[in-house]
Amino acid sequence: MRKKIVAGNWKMNKDYSEGLSLFSEVLNMVKDEVRGEQLVVVCAPFIHLNSLSGLAKGSSQVFVGAQNAHQEASGAYTGEISAGMLSSIGVEYVILGHSERRQYFGETNELLAKKTDAALKNNLKPIFCIGETLEEREGGKHFDIIKSQLAEATFHLSAEDFSKLVIAYEPVWAIGTGVTASSDQAQEIHAFIRAEIASKYGKEIADDITILYGGSCNPKNAAELFAQHDIDGGLIGGASLKSRDFVDIVKTFNN
Ligand code: 13P
Repeated sequence: MRKKIVAGNWKMNKDYSEGLSLFSEVLNMVKDEVRGEQLVVVCAPFIHLNSLSGLAKGSSQVFVGAQNAHQEASGAYTGEISAGMLSSIGVEYVILGHSERRQYFGETNELLAKKTDAALKNNLKPIFCIGETLEEREGGKHFDIIKSQLAEATFHLSAEDFSKLVIAYEPVWAIGTGVTASSDQAQEIHAFIRAEIASKYGKEIADDITILYGGSCNPKNAAELFAQHDIDGGLIGGASLKSRDFVDIVKTFNN
């Protein structure tokens, strides 16, 4: 059975004490809300990760993730952090391929393939983001873009490794804009992603992969999005910065 996940992406927000308070609140508020195959992942800036993974240790449903990792194991890469370093402090997930990293830091599918390998080698589960820009959608290229992002960065993986990924569909035009993809638009792409995975790795693996929706997801629209057959939860930006909003999204699992 595939896992249902609500993941928060704090992006570059929250200083150290704000981060500790937010995470402690979330941990406390979700403890009776998630069970079985339902998980919560909080992807915070690097400075928080060691403390948060300590706080999350006792929980079997709440995990900590990073928002990036370098592709090399170690060396002269000033300012970078390796997947092995993250795993050494108990981090379990890492966001890779986010459109902000593609756009502002020039991350390509080729580089992301290497980052994915490094993450998996160090037992981090990538939350691998794909999604088209508004221009690509309006040009009718969204299916091609999704297909190439997925294939070029992840289809070199063995079936065993691929099945450790979480995929996140985040249309760039919906990120931070308040414009959400409609549940039909999101479902259409999620079904397409699952079909692409099935044609490469087979139906069983495709059926088991968790595919999250991200882009202006909030407590009001989450339930309708998550009710779609191929949407297994969300990757939440702005609404993950307020414990009440984030936990209200988590609660839609059981509504
Ligand atoms: P928003 O929820 O703020 O639109 O951000 C989505 C996102 O980029 C999560 O990774």
